[in-house]
Amino acid sequence: MNAAELGLPMAVPEKGLPSRVRIHEVGARDGLQNEKATVPAEVKAEFIRRLAGTGLTTIEATSFVHPKWVPQLADAEQLFPAVADLPVELPVLVPNERGLDRALALGARRVAVFASATESFAKANLNRTLDEALAMFEPVVARAKDADGVHVRGYLSMCFGDPWEGAVPVPQVVKVCRALLDMGCDELSLGDTIGVATPGHVSALLTALTEAGVPVSTLGVHFHDTYGQALSNTYAALRHGVTTVDASAGGLGGCPYAKSATGNLATEDLVWMLRGLGIDTGVDLGSLVATSVWMAAHLGRPSPSRTVRALAHQDSAADSHADSHKEQ
Ligand code: HMG
Ligand code: MG
Repeated sequence: MNAAELGLPMAVPEKGLPSRVRIHEVGARDGLQNEKATVPAEVKAEFIRRLAGTGLTTIEATSFVHPKWVPQLADAEQLFPAVADLPVELPVLVPNERGLDRALALGARRVAVFASATESFAKANLNRTLDEALAMFEPVVARAKDADGVHVRGYLSMCFGDPWEGAVPVPQVVKVCRALLDMGCDELSLGDTIGVATPGHVSALLTALTEAGVPVSTLGVHFHDTYGQALSNTYAALRHGVTTVDASAGGLGGCPYAKSATGNLATEDLVWMLRGLGIDTGVDLGSLVATSVWMAAHLGRPSPSRTVRALAHQDSAADSHADSHKEQ
């Protein structure tokens, strides 16, 4: 039996790529915030437990946003304590000081503010102009850093294209990245919220950020897979030295305030490619696929991830093969 039949690609490392990538898993937050039906907190907690069991070390748990804006995550106070004992990092989104208060009260050690590269999305997502949104984040970041050095991620949405404004100029993205770093964010996540980036565009943005003095070690990438470009874009980012990649188990996701957004890059598709490139993630692909199959059963529809489909199919084919042997 060859490696692919066992559920893993052959590892063929490529020069110039990192040897290890940290996956920032966003399925429980970015994924479930976009589900029509609200998933019960107990199911979310079990999802996060299972994800932690696969070897993922950073699992974004939920958002402390206004419950009317994202009702799917209104159970943050119930969910966070139910998973806080896990030996993994559990970042949470906080848009403002009210969100930070709620997160810190429950002992969160990693928070994320979420800015936009465009005015239109700042308005749609945060009910603020871009400058007002940055002003709203300033005390959040300062207070988080004061609170025994809570780690702060700065998301930046619409880095490549925006459903209202079209293509987003690279210098505009660089400017907001700079503002978030100057504010004190420890890392940035470059969001392709509606999935319109292509590898050359990713390369151009990363080059511009490097030229503007932004260390690549502070950068993560966050690709949605609307046009099937998320893996190619990730590969372009790896070639620039990026080692933090956001992904969502089973390809869950979207954004309730950007209608054209679909699911994130599926974590399984990412792990499959990284395994093939000989890049370590610490994630067990088989148990990750099993977790996404379990979650898909709760959601009542199959995972859009090609890797989940292929490996889940392989498993069921292997099971029926074994059964037919038993019957003989
Ligand atoms: P607003 O309506 O302007 O709120 O919303 P406000 O500041 O005027 O306050 C109104 C009331 O809300 C007040 O209560 C506040 O206390 C309360 P009142 O005094 O009237 O009784 N309030 C809150 N309650 C609980 N928790 C809070 C909170 N804040 C205010 N945190 C706000 C402004 C920012 C709150 C709202 O727009 C919001 O919650 N937006 C969140 C939208 C969101 O979560 N979007 C999805 C995440 S971003 C994303 O998915 C993209 C990403 O994946 C990257 C990518 O793909 O690009 C990260
Ligand atoms: Mg997103």
